[in-house]
Amino acid sequence: MNLVRTIAGAREVLAPLRSGSIGLVPTMGALHDGHLALLRAARAGNETVVMSLFVNPAQFADAGDLARYPRDEARDLAVAAEAGVDVVFAPSHDEMYPPGFQTWVDVTEVGSILEGRFRPGHFRGVATVVLKLFSIVRPTRTYFGQKDAQQVEVIRTLIRDLALEVELRVVPTVRDADGLALSSRNARLSPDERRRALALSRALATRDREQALAELAAANGLEIDYLEVADFDPPVLAGAVRVGSTRLIDNVVLEGEAQ
Ligand code: PAF
Repeated sequence: MNLVRTIAGAREVLAPLRSGSIGLVPTMGALHDGHLALLRAARAGNETVVMSLFVNPAQFADAGDLARYPRDEARDLAVAAEAGVDVVFAPSHDEMYPPGFQTWVDVTEVGSILEGRFRPGHFRGVATVVLKLFSIVRPTRTYFGQKDAQQVEVIRTLIRDLALEVELRVVPTVRDADGLALSSRNARLSPDERRRALALSRALATRDREQALAELAAANGLEIDYLEVADFDPPVLAGAVRVGSTRLIDNVVLEGEAQ
């Protein structure tokens, strides 16, 4: 596995591999089984697999949230190697946002509802870094998790609106046996908070907004940010809750591809 930290290095390593397909899995590290599902799909469908590893400050509205984001590069590199990744692109902050950086991509409508209301600027940061990753890696296919349904919709819109030559592949949400959607943020939950957080996946599993809202309202120890039906492709029932200092999102597909 090649580890590259510069844009020039990534382009050099990828140059001889461009005659075959390239699958890109963008990540912020703290890899879990949800990421492994993305890496497996990329490995099965492409000659070369690239994983990016970059905790993108531009998508964090809250400096405390960014500071608390779990980081363990050595472990992530070992997991990536084990999953058969060919190239890890792990740039520094200045490589992605050099002094004077001022070009942003905003998917205005999809990016401003739901998560966008609670995390202003979040999807501008996501769309900008993902477009830059596409420009560096020039992947044939890119892999995103259905767990972040709104992020998927933002990337789908970005690809469509800017006529980007990359195929978007969406991988179903991976859940623990009790239904909790895997997330890097789950590591921050105490055992008691984790038990309380289960109310979100259980409520969403009803696939009925009113019933889900009633269940969440009755659950102890969590605050609801939103629970809405979103007209994405496919439509989802999506929710966000706060359990202690941890904010969790999840969704279920309402029609189309089963999760
Ligand atoms: O889903 C994530 O981990 C991030 O939003 C992404 C796509 C890697 C962009 O920083």
